[in-house]
Amino acid sequence: MSALCDVAQLVSVALFTPKIEDSVKFFYDYLGMEISHREGQSVYLRAYEDFYQYTLKLTEAREPGLEQVTWRASSPEALERLAKKIQASGAGIGWTERDYAHGPAYRFASPDGHKHTLLWELDYFVADAELHSKLRNRPSKRPLRGVPVRRIDHVNLMVSDVPANREFFTSVLDFQLREQKIGDGGTEVGSWLSVSALVHELALMRDSTGGRGRFHHVAYWYGAPQHLLDIADIFAERDVRMESGPAKHGTTQAYFMYCFEPGGNRVELFGDTGYLIFDPAWKTVVWDVANEVDLEKSSIWFGGQLAKTFYRYATPVVPGHSLEEIGR
Ligand SMILES: [Fe+2]
Repeated sequence: MSALCDVAQLVSVALFTPKIEDSVKFFYDYLGMEISHREGQSVYLRAYEDFYQYTLKLTEAREPGLEQVTWRASSPEALERLAKKIQASGAGIGWTERDYAHGPAYRFASPDGHKHTLLWELDYFVADAELHSKLRNRPSKRPLRGVPVRRIDHVNLMVSDVPANREFFTSVLDFQLREQKIGDGGTEVGSWLSVSALVHELALMRDSTGGRGRFHHVAYWYGAPQHLLDIADIFAERDVRMESGPAKHGTTQAYFMYCFEPGGNRVELFGDTGYLIFDPAWKTVVWDVANEVDLEKSSIWFGGQLAKTFYRYATPVVPGHSLEEIGR
């Protein structure tokens, strides 16, 4: 069986948070995620249908933001090929030895400075008697807490230069460009890339604040859109800050909601799947966001408008662009 590309999938996102216990409680209580491991200042979590040991690592730090994104290669040979290509591109940092639940990994920095890790070997989650599911294709029982998310879906990074970053992921890592937003004067303001039939595992959006290497959001998948309404209802009762949605995106066509975990990082809750791409000759969908209709419909097909904070707030926070300073 051949993979679409040498990168097979998004494995995990590692985030910094200044409020580690509040952040852990948010993912554990509201999103029903399980705690796999604690080590030093870090807590490792997974959704109940994530097959690996963890998909989210939270580490206590002074400011919120991204530590790194981890990707899995499609084979040990693919990992070697990718490491050589990345090294030749000048983006390589080097090999690391075994980390918690992960085998040898190759580290690199994408053009804006975001850190990534690429690996083949990792530990699968094995449920104990308490979490064991009778459903043989489900790695652990559906939890009773909050409205449990099912699996990690994608990561969105803000970048100072979308073309340079998009070019790196498509030419060095063989990501496919699925959708794109082109603004005034032909400026590329956003690109949605994937290595599978999903519309994206990675989104790159222009950072208009002058910031570099910032984190926009990580998305967890619900499956049924009803769960978005249920978690929104729970958040509203408990003053969890919701930014936009529940609504439906034009780009990707997914039902979504953005909210903030207590440490300040944005989290997207993803319902439905949007659409899937099986066409090997896919032509990139291009939205002309200099055009009012495309601008409005690509962001939100229906269900209101994106908040002002969506375009300027990311972590770490750029001075003058906190949630309070931007306003709703
Ligand atoms: Fe997203």
